[in-house]
Amino acid sequence: MLGKAALGLKCGMGVAALCALSLALPGLLGPLAAEKDLTGRGRVLVEQNCGRCHAPGKEGDSPHAEARPFRTLSSKYPVEDLAESLAEGIVSGHPEMPIFVFEPQDVAAIIDYLESIQDVPAAAPGEAPAEAPAETPPQAE
Ligand code: HEC
Repeated sequence: MLGKAALGLKCGMGVAALCALSLALPGLLGPLAAEKDLTGRGRVLVEQNCGRCHAPGKEGDSPHAEARPFRTLSSKYPVEDLAESLAEGIVSGHPEMPIFVFEPQDVAAIIDYLESIQDVPAAAPGEAPAEAPAETPPQAE
């Protein structure tokens, strides 16, 4: 991109303000830049939509005691298994959890992000997860 190259050039010439601007630009471009950073986009979606109940990151407890921290999901099932639920409407069987329906690109971002924070690495398809505690699946009831 021409604009970017020009900024890069100014950067090299030591124009500090422009240099800072070119670094800040990707963030300001919003959705466009976020498309490139799938994981970051998923993180924002998860934090905004799920964070008030589920711990959305690598650390911390869930604000809602019964909502499991997302980093523990893969100990129960492969995170990709959620893709269908996210696209068609996730129903946890818990009246407090709203039904979400996400666009395919948002589903991909969310799955990508969730996979990036798992405590237990994703199990290979068809294989039992490493330490699977016996619990009921989300759709139970
Ligand atoms: C208003 C609070 C609330 C919000 C917001 C919320 N959840 Fe939940 N969620 C819960 C509760 C409470 C449970 C546990 C009870 C249950 O499984 O029915 C749960 C359970 C789940 C489960 C099942 C976990 C398991 O044990 O297998 C998944 C997956 C899940 N939520 C995903 C999401 C995603 C993804 C979002 C955001 C798009 C979200 N939740 C937003 C409250 C919430």
